Amino acid sequence: MSIPADPSPSSSTAADWQRRSVASVWHPCTQMQRMADVPPIAIARAHGPWLEAYDGARYFDATSSWWVNLFGHADARINAALKQQLDTLEHVMLAGCTHAPAVELAERLSARTGHALGHTFFASDGASAVEIALKMSFHSWKNRGQGDKREFVCLRHGYHGETIGALAVTDVAVFRDAYDPLLMRSHVVMAPDARQAEPGESAPDVARRAAAELAALFESRAGHIAAVILEPLVQCAAGMAMHDPVYLREVRALCDRYGVHLIADEIAVGCGRTGTFFAFEQAADPTDAKPIWPDLLCLSKGISGGYLPLSLVLSTDAIYNAFLDDDTARGFLHSHSYTGNPLACRAALAVLDRFDEEPVLQRNRETGALLTAALAERLAGDARIEQVRQRGMIWAFDVRESVAGVRFAERFHMAARLQGLLIRPIGRTVYLMPPYLLNEEHAAYLAERTVATLNATLNSGH
Ligand SMILES: Cc1ncc(COP(=O)(O)O)c(C=O)c1O
Repeated sequence: MSIPADPSPSSSTAADWQRRSVASVWHPCTQMQRMADVPPIAIARAHGPWLEAYDGARYFDATSSWWVNLFGHADARINAALKQQLDTLEHVMLAGCTHAPAVELAERLSARTGHALGHTFFASDGASAVEIALKMSFHSWKNRGQGDKREFVCLRHGYHGETIGALAVTDVAVFRDAYDPLLMRSHVVMAPDARQAEPGESAPDVARRAAAELAALFESRAGHIAAVILEPLVQCAAGMAMHDPVYLREVRALCDRYGVHLIADEIAVGCGRTGTFFAFEQAADPTDAKPIWPDLLCLSKGISGGYLPLSLVLSTDAIYNAFLDDDTARGFLHSHSYTGNPLACRAALAVLDRFDEEPVLQRNRETGALLTAALAERLAGDARIEQVRQRGMIWAFDVRESVAGVRFAERFHMAARLQGLLIRPIGRTVYLMPPYLLNEEHAAYLAERTVATLNATLNSGH
C-alpha cells in the first residue's frame, strides 16, 4: 500500500527527530533514562494499519496506537467528516451553548443503549471520564441524602487511568505505588480473571467466586459504598485478563440488591473491541437475552476513531435526575475547556456511521477468525507460552516466567521493530489489538512476525 507523501517535507532525519524529542519531549509511560536503548520511532505519516517512519521503515500498528484506532490511519470517511466540520465550527464552549455534533452523538449513543442511559456528559481523555463517573456517583448519593456512600470498589489489577482519582481505583503497582500517599482508599476485590482457574474450575466458576467476594464486602459495607468500577470482559492493562460475562450479570444483581452504582469503564473495551458495540451487551442473560446496563458507562479511545481526544460518561436517568434542583451547587458543575469539542464529536459520528452502515462487527468476526487460525497454526504446542486467549479483536498469550528473562517487554518491543511491528507487551503478556481492517494478508503478516519476534526475543538471551 502506498502512503501519500508528507505534505510538509522536512530536512530532518529520523535520528534528528529522535534526538530532539529526547531533548525536549517528556514521553508518557516511559523511564526517560532508557531512551538511549529504546529511542522513540519518529513517525512521519500513516495510512491504514501502517505507520511510516522518517527513515522509511514501516510498522504495522498492531496495538492500534494505544487501543484508540478503529478503522486505520487516515480513514477516508473520518477525514472527510473532519474536513467539513473544520470549515463549519471548530469549537465552542458547551456551557451555555450547544451544537449538532454533541447533540447527535449523545442521542445516538443513548439509542444504542435502548435509552437505558439517557444523558451523555462529555470530557476529553479516558481518565477524565473516570473522574466524572466517580464524582457523579458520590454526588448523586449525597443529593439523595446518602452522603455516607463515599467509598469505591475496584478489581485486583484493574486500570482506570492516571489522574489522582482514577489512580485511586487502579490496582497496577507500577503506576500507582509512587502516589499511594496521595490517593483515597478504595476496596480492591478479587478480579474474575479466568487465568486463576483452579483444576476443574471453569471461567464462569472463577467469575462466580469473584462475585462472591464482592457480595461479602457489600454485606458488611454497602451503606458506605458509592460504586464499583470495572472493565467489562477484558482488564486490558492488567495484561488482557479476560473473564466470563456471567461476572457482569452477578455484579449487576449485587449492585441492585445492595444499592451500589455499577460503573462500566468501556474506555478500552467499548466501540466493538470485544465483539459487540458495548462490551456490556454481552452481559445479557442468554436464556432471555434481556439487556442489562451499568448505571454509568465511560467511553473514550475508539469513539473518535483514534483521531482526537474525546471521552464521555453515559448515565441513567435516575442518576441524572438526582442533580436537578433549584440549588446550583446540587448540579453537576464539573467541566473541561474542550468538553464536547465539535471536531472530536464529528469524528465520533463518522465512527458511528460506519457501525450503522457497514457490517463492522460481522466483518471483524470473519477476519478475526483468520488471525486466530494463523496464530494457532504457529503457536500450537509451543511450550514457551501459556494462556492463549482471544475476545473480539483482542488476542493475547503469556510467555512463561521461566523463559521470559529480564526486561522481556522491552526486548520484545525492540525485536518487533525489526519485524515491522509496533507492539508493546505488558509484562510477559504479548497481545495484538489491531485496527478493524484486517485482511488475509494482514493476518498472516501479524501471526508470522509476532512469532518471529518471539523467537528472536527468547533466543537473544537474558
Ligand atoms: C480501561 C481504561 N480506563 C481508563 C484509561 C485511561 O484513559 P486515558 O489514557 O485516555 O486517560 C485507560 C487507558 O488505557 C483504560 O484502558
